[in-house]
This record gives sequence, structure tokens and C-alpha cells, in this order.
Amino acid sequence: MFFAKRNVTPEPSTLVIFGGTGDLACRKLYPALYNLYRVKRLPPGTQVVGVGRREYDRQAFQDYVAGCIQEHSRKKPHALEVDFLRLFHYQALDLAKSDTFASLEAFLAKLTGSQQKQHIFYMAVPPEVFAPTVRKLAAAGLAKDSRVVLEKPFGWDLASARALQQELAAVFPESAIFRLDHYLGKEMLQNIMMIRMANTVFEPLWNKDHVASIQLQVNESVGIGQRGRYYEQAGALRDMVQNHLMQVLAFTAMEPPRDFSADALRDEKVRVIKALRPLTEETIATQVVRGQYGPGTIHGETVVGYRQEPYVSPDSQRETFVAMKLYIDNPRWQGVPFYLRTGKRLPQRSAQVVVEFKKNSNLSFLGDLAPNLLVIKIQPEEGVAFQFNVKEPDTEFNLRPVLMSFCQNCDYPENSPEAYERLLHDILVGDATLFTRWDEVEATWEYVQSILEAWERDTSEIPQYPAGTWGPEEAQQLLAQDGKVWWVDCEDRLRCFHDN
Ligand code: BG6
Repeated sequence: MFFAKRNVTPEPSTLVIFGGTGDLACRKLYPALYNLYRVKRLPPGTQVVGVGRREYDRQAFQDYVAGCIQEHSRKKPHALEVDFLRLFHYQALDLAKSDTFASLEAFLAKLTGSQQKQHIFYMAVPPEVFAPTVRKLAAAGLAKDSRVVLEKPFGWDLASARALQQELAAVFPESAIFRLDHYLGKEMLQNIMMIRMANTVFEPLWNKDHVASIQLQVNESVGIGQRGRYYEQAGALRDMVQNHLMQVLAFTAMEPPRDFSADALRDEKVRVIKALRPLTEETIATQVVRGQYGPGTIHGETVVGYRQEPYVSPDSQRETFVAMKLYIDNPRWQGVPFYLRTGKRLPQRSAQVVVEFKKNSNLSFLGDLAPNLLVIKIQPEEGVAFQFNVKEPDTEFNLRPVLMSFCQNCDYPENSPEAYERLLHDILVGDATLFTRWDEVEATWEYVQSILEAWERDTSEIPQYPAGTWGPEEAQQLLAQDGKVWWVDCEDRLRCFHDN
């Protein structure tokens, strides 16, 4: 269904990127545009205007874009892509210093002809610049009938998210605001919905009667790199849980939407997020674990701890790891634990959903069976694995778990477009299905707000874990007390997935 057309409105076609010479644009946006161009999926008439502080002329900017695609694109350009680079223009503008966007307005008017006033404004800039930029767009008459694209962080907590929303809503209608969460562009995230709904062996079992628990994991082996300033403010809860993990949860647990229109899908996501059982002081203490990586070894390499990373305070209490258990109070999921885990400097990079099915308690003479597991692998491998039990050959009745697996990006690596390609395409054609609506964002902030506040009050030392391990001991305990283990992939063993 990639790029299958839903309700879309292809105008306008001038993409204005604030932060046009920044990291996000160079690493993700220009390469994504280039890959869309290569497969002829850029809507006709698309033009791109980079807006940045540097004093580039058009040629210098095009050279810069060429360097970005050369370095970061999935498909490497064979030669200088003159036709592609011709789509790019540049306007120097210091967002912090300029009080008005009159010069930008004049530039766009000249570029597109004065009759076209609608544009797409992509905020590839720090979040503190979002609101002032939106105000200036409105003052310059550039907002009407335009779209705006924002990435996280959408606020730092519930109050600041609401304040930002107020600013946006004063200028843009909800249908013109594209809040981008790049996890929604991942093939296998979209596939969660399809796998469960399109297969009668799964859909009837997708509920509390048959599912024992669900794990949602986004494990990372990287540290925070040079992002200490941002990460000291954010931490794993804001950086990963409030957005990416909540989206994975929503796709896994929501009711089937009535169709694939943007609002039908998002209505169901909001409904399931709002059905999350609110956390109390007590459940936060017993069901939410945080941790911070210390020095350690990953893949044979010695790495520093979080507190030794650049721009990080030597006594920082900021979490780089979160594990939690949560419940969804609705008829489908009543009583089923959902376990979430995310962290930096873990032994491997892997994102996956593991559905653990209940065992057949009527046939106890079979002994202690391994559970049926359905593993939806989001990355780095994209695929699905299913664990089931078979009789061991040449034994009387010994059973052993085996795996059936499907690897999507092993066979078709070319068919797995990067998340930004899918999302940029949808922005250009005006399809908001894979973008988060305000009530969704608000509901996720409402849910995590109580954790933020509880941690704010907590004066105890944050638990540490050595880099290269699976997080603090408390995270193992969280599952052990329910008689469970975290499942992680292991290439070398058929009987997947244990991590200890
Ligand atoms: C970003 C976070 O949103 O997602 C990063 O800010 C994180 O901290 C990244 O590393 C993970 O994305 P992916 O696509 O590499 O799983």
C-alpha cells in the first residue's frame, strides 16, 4: 500500500525549510527528497527553498545539497544530478534576529508568481524557534492556506505542549499542521496494523482471552553522542516514550479503524491512549524503572558513561533508560500487561513488538511449554517471526519451540524506503494519516506527566547500568516478579529470544 492514494490535496508545492543548512535537513530531508526524485514520486512542480543563517547564493546552496545527498542518501547519485539540484533555492535569514519575514515573502512571491501564496513550512529548527516563527509567518501573510511541519519535541511537558498548540492553532487549522514522528514512517510500524488485521490467525486472538502480555522495545546501542545539551533537558521518557513508544503502542493495541482515512486512524489511536490506566505515585514507584548508563564495553569497544559525555553534568540524574509496565482499561485488553523498554547503550540495536500468547492450560499433560510468540521486527531487520512448539524428532513426546520467520528487508532491501521519504511524500501531497493529531499528542503528555512530576520530586540517586548491558537490575525484576523475561532476538539460536 506504499503511496496508495487516500484523501489528498497535492497543492501547494513549495517546500520552505527553516534550518535549511542544519543537520536534519542535510542528513534526512535532502536525501529523502532525492530518493523520491529518483523514483519519480516528487509531485510535479515541487520546489525547495532552504532558509538559513549562512550567506549562500543559490549555487553555493545547491553544492551544499549535492554534498548532503552524496554523503547521506540511501541511493547514491551516479553523477551530478543537475535536474534535481535545480529544484533548490536559498534565502538567507536569521530567524533569531529578523523581526519580519517581509524579505522571505518577497522572495517567495517572485519565485512562485504572486498568485500562489500557499507553501509548506518545515521547522527543521530548535523548538524554541517554533512559536516565534509561526507568528512571523502569520504577520507576513504567509500562513493562510499553507501547511506547517514540526518535529518533536512538541513541548517539554503537558503545559508547554498546550502553550505551543495554542500558538499554532491561532495561525493554522489542525488540518494544516503536520506533526512528524519519524517512527510512523517506518514500514514495519505501519505493518503492525496490517499483520494483525489481515490475518485471521491473528486478529481473533488479539485480545485479553489469548494474549498473555505484549512487549514493546526500542533498544539502542548508541550513546547520546554530541546531543548532551538537548538530552540533559529531555531524557528517555521525553525523547522516546512520549512519542515513538506511544505510537508503537497505539498501532499495536488500537481497535481496527473504520477505514484508512487520516481521522479514522487517529481517532482509534487517541481512544486507546486515553484508555491507558492512569499512573499513581505507587504504580510509578513499582512499575516504572529508570536508569542511566555508566562506562562499559559495547561490541568490544570501551565507552564512557553518560555523565562523562560532552555537555552533560557530572552528577546528572537524567535517565537514558526507561522500562515500564502499563495496562489498557478497555474490553479488549483488560488485565493484559504491556511492557515497554527503551534505552541507550544497550547490547544491541533492535526495535520490536513481541506478543506472547497464553498457554493452553487444558492440556497440562504436555508439560511446561514455551509460549507462542509473534515478533514484529521494526528494525534493523524488518520482518516477522513466530515461535511455536513441535515434537522433537526421535523422541517419544518431547516438545521444542521452533521459529518461522519472514525477513522483509533481506529479500527486498530496495523496497524499504526510509521513514523520511514516506513522510515527506505525504506532506507534499497533503496526506495527514501518518502524522500525529493534537489530541493524540495531548493524551500522551497527559499520560507521562505524572511520571515527570514523580521523578522531579524523587531525590534518590538514579540507578546505573554499565554500557553494554540490558539496563538496571530493576528492569529485569519488573518482569521477573510477573514470571516473565524480556525477549530479544538472538541470531544463533532457534529458540529465540531471552536476554539473560
Ligand atoms: C530520535 C531520538 O527521535 O529517535 C533519538 O531523539 C533516537 O535519541 C532516535 O536515537 C531513534 O530513531 P531510530 O530511527 O534510529 O530508531
